[in-house]
Amino acid sequence: MRIAIVVGTRGRGSNMAAIVDAWKGGNIPADEVTVVAPSAESPAAQLAREKGVSVRVLDPQTELLRFVEDERIDLICLAGYMKKLPADVVSALRCRIINIHPALLPKHGGQGMYGMRVHESVLSSGDRESGCTVHFVTEEYDEGDPLLQLRCEVRGDDTPETLAARVLELEHQAYPEAIRIWIQRYGQPGRNASL
Ligand code: GRF
Repeated sequence: MRIAIVVGTRGRGSNMAAIVDAWKGGNIPADEVTVVAPSAESPAAQLAREKGVSVRVLDPQTELLRFVEDERIDLICLAGYMKKLPADVVSALRCRIINIHPALLPKHGGQGMYGMRVHESVLSSGDRESGCTVHFVTEEYDEGDPLLQLRCEVRGDDTPETLAARVLELEHQAYPEAIRIWIQRYGQPGRNASL
């Protein structure tokens, strides 16, 4: 089982760190975890190097598919990578790319719904609960089937920042758990994740 975590240019890399920590702690049954970063200098790439995990710098838009084939990667986890992947990449890697979103999809998702905008949207909708969703990546933003959702309450005195912090804690539990679920479901010998 070989996993690639794709981080973004500006992201903190906290979900990447949670996945790497879970793997190093023996809580994700994978042989190899590699971080794919569009920029060597991004905070997430630097954090990955500090954690002693191998970092490959490449442009996911044009070089991810070749990398996945060459390195025989089974599962690709987007963690703070905000751009839409090209349709041919998504189609070639159907069911093998997952992402995390800081709300309970299908609510508060779609193009332009990222960062604090998600939590502002939750607060202005009056929802009493929020959470995070790990979902399959399809050709459209945030539309793939969910693999796992974790929930938390929305408090009367929440600001977008306090809600974001509560959801982020859940994300760090949810992503490793969703990866374990994926491996159980699709990662066994004889199972083909692209079917
Ligand atoms: C997270 O909120 C995640 O839900 C979203 O992007 C953010 C990445 O944060 N997809 P980090 O870089 O993992 O800290």
